[in-house]
Amino acid sequence: MTTSPAVTLLAADARHLPLADSTADLVVTSPPYWRKRDYGVEGQLGQEPTPAAYTTAILHCLTEWRRVLTPTGSVFLNVGDGYHRRALAAIPGRIEAAAADAGWLLRNRIIWTKTRGNPDPARDRLTPRHEYVLHLTPRRYHYDLPGYSERYGNGANPGDVWNITPERGLTPHLAPFPVELAHRAILLGCPRTVCTVCGHAAQRILEPSGQLDTTRPQARRAMQLAKDAGLTDAHLAAIRATGISDAGKALRVQTGTGRNSAEVQRLATEAKQVLGGYFREFTFGPKHTVDWTDCGHDAWRPGRVLDPFSGTGTTGVAAVSEGLSYIGVDLDPACHVIAAPRLTAPPLVPAA
Ligand SMILES: C[S@@+](CC[C@H](N)C(=O)[O-])C[C@H]1O[C@@H](n2cnc3c(N)ncnc32)[C@H](O)[C@@H]1O
Repeated sequence: MTTSPAVTLLAADARHLPLADSTADLVVTSPPYWRKRDYGVEGQLGQEPTPAAYTTAILHCLTEWRRVLTPTGSVFLNVGDGYHRRALAAIPGRIEAAAADAGWLLRNRIIWTKTRGNPDPARDRLTPRHEYVLHLTPRRYHYDLPGYSERYGNGANPGDVWNITPERGLTPHLAPFPVELAHRAILLGCPRTVCTVCGHAAQRILEPSGQLDTTRPQARRAMQLAKDAGLTDAHLAAIRATGISDAGKALRVQTGTGRNSAEVQRLATEAKQVLGGYFREFTFGPKHTVDWTDCGHDAWRPGRVLDPFSGTGTTGVAAVSEGLSYIGVDLDPACHVIAAPRLTAPPLVPAA
């Protein structure tokens, strides 16, 4: 049985969350940038006198988020830089270094590129057209690259540059980020369902689909060669089992190869002789989800996404669209008045 997703909006400081330990599976957020805009709320973050003081404030947030995250929960932090006395303040780099010193792993520095933005009067430098999304994690963390790639890639690893056109602001002073940015982070980092008894986050069980991406000429050629030579499913399975490391130059220069059974190796060698370099097409062919891992308790809840600087609730819109629960925290309760109608009743998640 799976419980329904829920939306919770709370007025609180991102550094002191009124949440129990291990409440959220993922944080996706965009804090106020350093000295960029005044949100007019007492205790707001972003008005610190120096970049160093701002970095310390962000680190306080990270410490608090670690507490409310499950042990495999991670943080996607959207941060931009700014100019201070004509020089870039190097804010993202400062946060990266401070977070690493505090024990976080910086797993990705995703570049969000923008094709358009506000006009900039500067004549002696280029207009910034990118921001960062830092993926900060504990040593082991939930990650669903196949699920993400299905939506935002071509079955492979789509890379760390996100080209997303900023949406026109609902209310300009809140500086919302695009729903797509939050959606990408959620697909990567939030489990679909989590066991309420043991905390097990369901993972995909993948199997090779045997299908190649026929939009690629190399894949079409590989399929033709295999068909002409009468290669069997066993041949193709043998190629997948041995991977690329048992072939050609790699066989001479790599260690750790040759662990497959003699029959699998024989079939793979036969197939590789027929296919030449095209055998690689069968080693990275797409996989599909055949099931989800199960701990046996039959007590699931939807994954829970937290945005501690919720603003207009953009992260929530993305979470709700995936049938996940959302906790939006903002110091300014007026934000929730804008966010609430965007987070209309989430759909029921079908029982796992
Ligand atoms: C960049 S905006 C977030 C925009 C959001 N991603 C959206 O979709 O609208 C930053 C938000 O942080 C809030 N804020 C500022 N200081 C805060 C603090 N100490 N704790 C929680 N929220 C804070 C502001 O009220 C503002 O809504």
